[in-house]
Amino acid sequence: MTTSSNEPILRVERLKKNFGGVLAVYDVSFELKRGEFLGIIGPNGSGKTTLVNLITGFVRPSGGRVLFKGKNITGKMPYKIADLGIARTFQMVRLFYNLPAYKNLIIPLCSSRVRRMRGGKYGEKDDEAVDLLDDMGFERDSYVPYKQVGTLPHGYLKRLDLARAMALRPELLILDELFSGMSMSEVASTLPLIEKFNREGLTIIMIEHRLKELFRVVDRVLVLNFGEKIAEGTPDEVMAEDEVKKAYLGIDVEIPPDPGTA
Ligand SMILES: Nc1ncnc2c1ncn2[C@@H]1O[C@H](COP(=O)(O)OP(=O)(O)O)[C@@H](O)[C@H]1O
Ligand SMILES: [Mg+2]
Repeated sequence: MTTSSNEPILRVERLKKNFGGVLAVYDVSFELKRGEFLGIIGPNGSGKTTLVNLITGFVRPSGGRVLFKGKNITGKMPYKIADLGIARTFQMVRLFYNLPAYKNLIIPLCSSRVRRMRGGKYGEKDDEAVDLLDDMGFERDSYVPYKQVGTLPHGYLKRLDLARAMALRPELLILDELFSGMSMSEVASTLPLIEKFNREGLTIIMIEHRLKELFRVVDRVLVLNFGEKIAEGTPDEVMAEDEVKKAYLGIDVEIPPDPGTA
């Protein structure tokens, strides 16, 4: 059936990107339903970040198409794609290091997307920024929301980047290794937040190396290796595939000899 109501929110069709002779992403296709939670895994250098960059307009594809809510967004500028409702976090965070943490949320809070969504009001945004950070676990009564970003520990920067993405009120959120550099306790407090966003209807793509945590929250996983999609399915389904075990765990999978019936 192809009625507009079950039109996928995102459709990636045969996306390709080569950097010179390097095929970073090769012929990758997948679909995402509204409200779905998709995990993307794969070894280092398998094309995960490039795929995110292609979807969000940071890199132009060498081939293929990206459709968001049925609209072709291939090759559009990142700010246009963000304005349509796709927000992302960065593996290497990009923040305004000289500003207090909460001031980093002012740009998305003043974006045309957010203004449109709330009926064109400008007004004061500082309180709203602090509220948003409070929701992300930056307690408003602590010094953290007001501290200069450059002086905050790394785990805070990743969560601030998440807050920045959420300030845009996205319909699709893409997280590129959000948990890298976070402590166990930071992961433990951030994961329920992300689950809550998804329960409330947000569609999420999460690239993550911490499989245990990832597999707890996702509906489906896509596996990349050398730029190609090698598997897609539930966590159990993909991890059962020999090609995935070999690529992802770097081991040759052999059927163990029968322990013996004799
Ligand atoms: N801007 C770039 N210029 C040249 N090569 C790149 C660039 N970005 C990524 N690559 C190459 O593309 C491949 C995929 O990289 P990347 O998408 O970062 O993988 P992952 O996120 O899975 O670790 C790697 O071989 C990487 O070196
Ligand atoms: Mg990456």
